[in-house]
Amino acid sequence: MVGLGEDNLELDEMSAYLTEDLETEIAHGIEVSRLAGRLAKELKLDPDFCHDIEVAGMLHDIGKLRASTYLYGGDDDTLNVEKMRYVRMHSSLGYEVVREEGYSDRICEMILHHHENYDGTGYPDNLIGEEIPLGARILRVCDVFAALTSDRPYRKAFDNATAVELLIEEVRHFDMKIFLPFQSIVHEEILEREKEKMAAETVADMKNGGAV
Ligand SMILES: [Fe+2]
Repeated sequence: MVGLGEDNLELDEMSAYLTEDLETEIAHGIEVSRLAGRLAKELKLDPDFCHDIEVAGMLHDIGKLRASTYLYGGDDDTLNVEKMRYVRMHSSLGYEVVREEGYSDRICEMILHHHENYDGTGYPDNLIGEEIPLGARILRVCDVFAALTSDRPYRKAFDNATAVELLIEEVRHFDMKIFLPFQSIVHEEILEREKEKMAAETVADMKNGGAV
């Protein structure tokens, strides 16, 4: 078991709220958008849906900007019960933001429910299984994976294979119809990166050979 010690993925996610800067936030949004778009295409969802989920992926944590008023007012970095309560408000606050800006109902719902877990343990509404909008179920997997595979001030990024193992430990949170295709995508990306690395090494070897 790889594990995050006694802490679960949610605690890791929550710690991130206190430590991330804006640049990290935006990079995370871009990565979730990319993964969710790729996964939606893999699931053969229509182009409008793929567009909407890419937008929702970029904006999914926008509610943190409103929650930050409460989160950063304290004089310490500990994740106390009060702060956790405000962290959990970010999906509802994000929903308010995108509604006010006139985004489609589907995008708004994806953002509102991106922390719902398939087993009903998520928030804000403890939705269970297929009650959770499809887009939110897709975002959930991509969001956790993108968080695990990026550096945090309190830990280094996990590699893709380790991140998948961590997801498997918490697989009850995810829809298996989404999780299995997601695993295929991650494996494809691992292979793509290995190919790129080998190609780069071949070019480097050729250059070195040419210089001798
Ligand atoms: Fe979030």
